[in-house]
Amino acid sequence: MTAFSALGRHLALAGFMGSGKTSAGQAVAVRLGRRFVDLDHAIETRTGSKIAELFVTRGEAGFRAVEESIAHEVLREGEPLVVALGGGAVLSERTRGELASRAFTVLLDVDPETAWQRVGGSGRPLARDETSFHALHRERQPLYEDVADARARDVDGILLAAGGVHVELGAIDELGELVPGSGPVELVSDAHVSGIHGIRAQVALGTRDHAQLEVPAGEAAKTPAVLERLWSRLRIGRDGAIVALGGGSTTDVVGLAAATYMRGVAWTAVPTTLVGQVDAGIGGKTAIDLPGAKNVVGAFHWPARVVCDPSLLTTLPEPERLNGLAEVVKTGLLAGTPLWERPEPEQVRLCAAFKVGVCLGDPHDRGARNQLNLGHTFAHALEAAAGYSLPHGRAVALGLVAALRLSGLPDEVRTVQDVLSPEPVDVDADAAWAALARDKKAERGSPRLVLLDAPGRPRWGVEAAEADVRAALEALIA
Ligand SMILES: NC(=O)c1ccc[n+]([C@@H]2O[C@H](COP(=O)([O-])OP(=O)(O)OC[C@H]3O[C@@H](n4cnc5c(N)ncnc54)[C@H](O)[C@@H]3O)[C@@H](O)[C@H]2O)c1
Ligand SMILES: [Zn+2]
Repeated sequence: MTAFSALGRHLALAGFMGSGKTSAGQAVAVRLGRRFVDLDHAIETRTGSKIAELFVTRGEAGFRAVEESIAHEVLREGEPLVVALGGGAVLSERTRGELASRAFTVLLDVDPETAWQRVGGSGRPLARDETSFHALHRERQPLYEDVADARARDVDGILLAAGGVHVELGAIDELGELVPGSGPVELVSDAHVSGIHGIRAQVALGTRDHAQLEVPAGEAAKTPAVLERLWSRLRIGRDGAIVALGGGSTTDVVGLAAATYMRGVAWTAVPTTLVGQVDAGIGGKTAIDLPGAKNVVGAFHWPARVVCDPSLLTTLPEPERLNGLAEVVKTGLLAGTPLWERPEPEQVRLCAAFKVGVCLGDPHDRGARNQLNLGHTFAHALEAAAGYSLPHGRAVALGLVAALRLSGLPDEVRTVQDVLSPEPVDVDADAAWAALARDKKAERGSPRLVLLDAPGRPRWGVEAAEADVRAALEALIA
């Protein structure tokens, strides 16, 4: 265990023959916007021979030597890749060492029966006889476990693991084990959430040396004064970890404290709102507000771990759940799947996986991450015109309607109206337009928007005609 996530590192997939490393690796690479390298395929291309032929002409030892040297070349590449390792690549001590220093390795778990069904009799040199196939699986499994930083069973699971995100009902009770490292822990909770879930978190941290702090509930925590209080009260050293327990407001301010305290310490986000679990807790953006300006002071500081426990959401007030549902609908539109129709724990898992994929692919918000602003240019304008008294979910729902109308997608407009029932807001249209024009996504005067060519096919930086944008905005105003 060396790395917490695949941020800035190769994402390597290890696992037995038939675990699906190649197809999962391809899908993961698309989601991350990274290049995919299948090690076996690279060997065949480089040597001009099929793996089965290399086994015959060079023997297994000869093949392993070639495999080791090509693994070395691939893992030495500077650009972070997604690499599917051959089933036996981890037999090499040198490759294991290079994985530890240059990659985040995920073990793609498969039960041996399924693996045999997939590859038995396929002509692979080591999949000719079922008994020896099972024996080899038993022999290799400990090696995979040893080299793996995390385990997963599917594409979304790989993405979550790659981002250090753990989604599980009841995960809060495993917090002591889930917070990386063994140093002391400083638990910082939203004051309201602390009274509801704080004891559970503290009991779970009981195995660790830990202390507790509170920040004001909700958005009131995102101030310079609260940040300064955290700086002066934190007691951990560089080997310690900060744990943030609360909604997006708490994870934003505590994450910024972690980014700045002693020039940066590790932190774990434990989001307790639906917004937090599907959006705010993920991706490493942290921020506080200044008077009249939201999120203007912040830092990128990827959490070493995010622990999403959907069971914490049972105590969430309905208006807060609706805020989260708007982000779930946004994510489903971006992903091209009606995620909002799934049970809530699945919404959390799939939305978190979607966001983590986009953010790992663009950690510093220079490209693909822009898509996450779908509907938000309009939402921010309405929120500003309403003096921030408008619930974010309602603003986003309206913003999605406007973006989908401009995208020419009437069916999706109806879906958003059915699922989120957004009511037009009573704000000053000129004030909303002025705020939209001031929005940081507006470059050279004309607003830049995120639109959809179709569900699952976002386009960002779209320069729409000013009159159309203004009409779409005004249609949201009562
Ligand atoms: N960093 C990012 O990428 C990102 C993304 C989206 C939003 N955000 C930020 O997140 C903030 C909004 O966060 P939020 O919507 O999670 O709300 P929040 O953190 O402001 O909390 C809202 C309210 O819910 C309460 N609450 C939280 N969890 C609860 C639970 N389990 N049971 C009962 N009550 C609970 C809180 O005490 C608070 O009163 C905004 O400041 C926004 O800017 C950040
Ligand atoms: Zn939002």
